[in-house]
Amino acid sequence: MLTKEFIEDHFPQIKTMDRITYLDSGATNLKHRDVINTIHTYYAKEAASVHRGIHTLSEHNTDLYEQTRVKLQNFLNAKYREEIIYTKGTTESINLVARTWGEENITQGDEIIISTLEHHSNIVPWQMLCERKNAILKVIPINDKGEILIDEFYKLISSKTKLVAINYVSNALGTINPIEDIIKFTHQNSSAKVLIDAAQAASHLKIDVQALNCDFLALSAHKMFGPTGVGALYGKKDILENTSPLYGGGDMIDKVSFEKTTYNVLPQKFEAGTPHISGVIGWAPALDFISNLGFQAIQEHEHELLVYATEKMSTLSGLKIIGTAEHKSAIISFVIDGMHAHDIATLANKYGLALRTGHHCTQPLMERMNVPATARASFAIYNTKDDVDKLCDSLSKIIMMFN
Ligand code: ALA
Repeated sequence: MLTKEFIEDHFPQIKTMDRITYLDSGATNLKHRDVINTIHTYYAKEAASVHRGIHTLSEHNTDLYEQTRVKLQNFLNAKYREEIIYTKGTTESINLVARTWGEENITQGDEIIISTLEHHSNIVPWQMLCERKNAILKVIPINDKGEILIDEFYKLISSKTKLVAINYVSNALGTINPIEDIIKFTHQNSSAKVLIDAAQAASHLKIDVQALNCDFLALSAHKMFGPTGVGALYGKKDILENTSPLYGGGDMIDKVSFEKTTYNVLPQKFEAGTPHISGVIGWAPALDFISNLGFQAIQEHEHELLVYATEKMSTLSGLKIIGTAEHKSAIISFVIDGMHAHDIATLANKYGLALRTGHHCTQPLMERMNVPATARASFAIYNTKDDVDKLCDSLSKIIMMFN
């Protein structure tokens, strides 16, 4: 376990959040000290644009902006820096693939496979694409524990499959999906591409896009101790090179005339307009922090919390954990007999617990698990066993109150 001093030093909000226990890292996690300082420095002392000036400040910011790209390349073990496209976040990354590669490669009768565990952001863009193209959306079923039925997935793959889009970790249940198997089987048995929604995995599990051999991967800075409003799309270079851009504007062009425009090379081809400069340069220290801590330490810490919390919560009368996969990230969704999830979270808030409640942007998954909604505690490296104790003590009081 990390020491209290280390956690408070790296995450200043922990110290200032008077009596609040933050258990909503699945929604967004707390910001690292160096992220906050970097963004402050940009706005207080160094604001200027990137790629557009030869003056000192612009060059300085361009350097930092492009350094983050290289850090992301290393973080994901991408082969080329041009394979990293900045976006607003995971949702935009997925929609970007749907609106560019999808628009050019999906035709009538083609099939796109997703899973029951997907966030709406990895359902709706594909549904919209299928509607535009008269293509077919297929869904991998899950068991009652919230695990993908891999044999059913194998059966879905055919020559009609053009894309498999799946999350690494379920935001609602915490299930860690067998993406290695899914990617390998897809590539061995079809010409389909595979997109991984890594939003909920990126600060918890090591990602190596070359070892995985995924074609696209989407992630968000704000779930990695970084700022909101910025994320990235990884795409294999040859695929991105052969895909037309979505947004037209500054920076994405090579030459413009009223007759014809030619496009810039990667990655600028996909990055029209003045970007979220402070967000991108503020993401870099978050990547450094995760890399320096190392995924082994992160996983050990979070797994210990998951096991401790699961055991302790399981003893609470009337509480049922929704999502009991063998391979789980530190996310615990639950319901309590006779209580609406919203009431659980509202009362928990009175005890100073920050939980998420609702359908977690996974309505089809809630339906499959036979619940209208759940309360969710999601953990990150700054959480401690004391937080779990506080959660269980408060839930115990809430349960007593309702009985
Ligand atoms: N996808 C985020 C969550 O699960 C917003 O809360």
